[in-house]
Amino acid sequence: MTVLRSLLELKTWRAQVSGEVGFVPTMGALHSGHVNLIMQSIQHCQHTLVSIYINPTQFNNPEDFEKYPSTFQEDLELLKSLGDVIVYSPNEKDIYPNGILSRSFNFGVLGVFMEGSGRPGHFEGMATVVTRFFELIEPHYAFFGEKDFQQLAIIKHVVAQENWPVKIIPCVTVREKDGLAMSSRNKRLSLGQRNSAKEIYRILQQWISTSLTLQADVSLAKQELIDSINAIDFLTVEYLEFCCEKTLTPIGNFKHQAPIRVFTAVMCGKVRLIDNLPLF
Ligand code: PAJ
Repeated sequence: MTVLRSLLELKTWRAQVSGEVGFVPTMGALHSGHVNLIMQSIQHCQHTLVSIYINPTQFNNPEDFEKYPSTFQEDLELLKSLGDVIVYSPNEKDIYPNGILSRSFNFGVLGVFMEGSGRPGHFEGMATVVTRFFELIEPHYAFFGEKDFQQLAIIKHVVAQENWPVKIIPCVTVREKDGLAMSSRNKRLSLGQRNSAKEIYRILQQWISTSLTLQADVSLAKQELIDSINAIDFLTVEYLEFCCEKTLTPIGNFKHQAPIRVFTAVMCGKVRLIDNLPLF
């Protein structure tokens, strides 16, 4: 397996490949959610490049950045077992030649709610690094998980707005057996916290299958779910919203035309977990 560690190595590799290049951006601490994206790329494209880079500009919380898990050697072992994958592990100067700053974007209404209001600057940092990767790697396809549904929507929007010649491929959320959405941050949970974390999916899923009707009251449903999650040890809801999938704005009723999803961010001790599920 080839590991590219500098811009020069990346450029040399890119100049000699022909055929379609699939790109999977990650921050490492790889799990089966990442593997799913990588396998999609391997199936679709002649070449698959996985980036591993913990991007400083997308962290609005310094402790989250400091404690973000890093398992580089294990990640390489896992990637080796998947087949013919190129890894790009850049240094900071390659990504941020003019200093560690985000550039500005207009995400419109997509960036206003949920992660947009809860993590100021997060999407600017994320879109800055992803578009820098697009510029350097020139991929034909890029693979993103629905686990970060708002991130996926924002990247699609930026690609369309800035005319990036890359097709964004969405991939479904991969879950643990008990339903918890896989996340690198799950590695930071204690056993007790891990046990509580699974309740987020269980509560949402159970409510969708037993209580959701077109006539249900959105505010009451929201409060009921928040109260149920907050009643679990270690869990505190930061937000829980029912949003239109297209605009990512909160809905007024469940009879809304476009597909609707429930989105939540929950603190589990000091670890911030997000998840989302389709309703109709
Ligand atoms: P990271 O959290 O490492 O996720 C990398 C990719 O894996 C994202 O597209 C994310 O949505 C996807 N992913 C994570 N958990 C998943 C799961 N359980 N099921 C399916 N897909 C999952 O997202 C980022 O990194 C960063 O913001 C990045 C795009 C790399 C920019 O720095």
